[in-house]
Amino acid sequence: MIFTVAIDGPAAAGKGTISRAVAERFGFAHLDTGALYRAVGVKGGDPVAAARGLTPADLARDDLRTLEAGQAASKVAVIPEVRQALLDFQRDFARRAGGAVLDGRDIGTVICPEAEVKLFVTASPEVRAHRRWLEVGGDAAQVLAEVKERDARDMTRADAPLKPAADAVVIDTSRLSIEEAIAAACAVVSERLCK
Ligand code: DC
Repeated sequence: MIFTVAIDGPAAAGKGTISRAVAERFGFAHLDTGALYRAVGVKGGDPVAAARGLTPADLARDDLRTLEAGQAASKVAVIPEVRQALLDFQRDFARRAGGAVLDGRDIGTVICPEAEVKLFVTASPEVRAHRRWLEVGGDAAQVLAEVKERDARDMTRADAPLKPAADAVVIDTSRLSIEEAIAAACAVVSERLCK
C-alpha cells in the first residue's frame, strides 16, 4: 500500500510527537525532514555540497536538536539548491510501500502535493516557545524571540515557504494535551484510510 501522511507546521507545534505517534499507530515509516536541514546546517562548509553529500552519520549526530541547529537549518533552508538536493530522497521515502509519515514545512505543498492526508499542526508562538523552553531551558524571552525569528524566516522565504496546503486539515494544539492532539491526527488518517 502506498499512503502518505504529510504533517507540516511551525517549530515546536507538536509535529514530531504527533508524527511519531501516527506512524506507530498505523505501522507507517516516519521521516523527520527537519533533521535533513539540521544536518546540513550543522555540517558547515558549503551547504549545497553538504546537502548533496548527506550521509547516515550526518543524520545520527547528537547535536541536531539544539536551538543553534534549528537556526542553522532555517538559514540553509532558504537556499533553493539545498531544497532541490533533498527533494528526491523525501519523495522516494513518501511513496515507499507500507505507508509513510513525513513532517516538515513544505511536505503538503511541495514535496507531496498528492499526499492522501495533509495536516497542518500549529500553536501560538507563546505556547510553542514555552514548550521549547521546557525542553532546552535558558532565557524564556530569548527562546520566544528565536521562535518568532524562525517563523518569520520559514514563512517569508521565496522557495517553499511554510504555509498550510489548501486542502490541509489544521490542528491547533495550543489548548490540546498531547493525547488529544494525537487523537485528532489519528482520526483524520483513519477516516481517509476507510474511504
Ligand atoms: O522541524 P525542524 O524544527 O527540525 O526544522 C528545522 C528547520 O529546517 C526549519 O526552521 C526550516 C527547515 N525545514 C524546511 O525548510 N523544510 C522542511 N520540510 C523541514 C524543515
